[in-house]
Amino acid sequence: MNVQKEQAAQAALKYIEDNSIVGVGTGSTVNYFIDALASIRHRIEGAVASSEASAQRLKDHGIPVYDLNTVNSIPVYVDGTDEITQHMVMIKGGGGALTREKIIAAVAKQFVCIADESKLVDVLGEFPLPVEVIPMARSLVGREMVRQGGSPAYREGFTTDNGNIILDVHGLDLTMPLKMEQAINNITGVVCNGLFAMRPADVLLLGTKHGIEVMTSM
Ligand code: A5P
Repeated sequence: MNVQKEQAAQAALKYIEDNSIVGVGTGSTVNYFIDALASIRHRIEGAVASSEASAQRLKDHGIPVYDLNTVNSIPVYVDGTDEITQHMVMIKGGGGALTREKIIAAVAKQFVCIADESKLVDVLGEFPLPVEVIPMARSLVGREMVRQGGSPAYREGFTTDNGNIILDVHGLDLTMPLKMEQAINNITGVVCNGLFAMRPADVLLLGTKHGIEVMTSM
């Protein structure tokens, strides 16, 4: 799988525009992308990062990291995923960076998803849905998730970069991801959930046994 992740990460380089600010996600696949980006760092202005961990890795490679509020445009955002369908709808947040990922994705003109072939699924939901929650609303949101048909599990010992907690929700029916994304967002105390249906990926670069497969929304 690591070879496939690395292949996908390398393939993303050709989407990067000269002199641009690159949106950079979070996770093991993105770590390969950051390492690859270092080889063309003289061609880009810098990056915005969806986590402190990615920001640090970028800086370690000598790539300037900007505050999103100081940036006018992001032509391309490159990030991994936990699950993705052929419609480019995703579950993200396994690394807990979902909120910042969603914010950068909302700014970016193009979302390039990089993944190994295990991430492509017919229906979302085998991977539990991460939901970022204000700490004092943990029980309230947990009860609401049960009402939605889910089984929430508190991610022990984890605090997001925004100082919040994560509930990993198992067993939800995600056959209507757009509706579910909006419904969960409407629960008081929820900061963000890991469904990317309102803002799906534009391109999927999938590392497979036979090389890179390029997919776009159908
Ligand atoms: C981070 O919060 C996630 O959204 C990641 O993009 C996702 O977990 C993919 O991670 P890997 O590349 O490590 O599988």
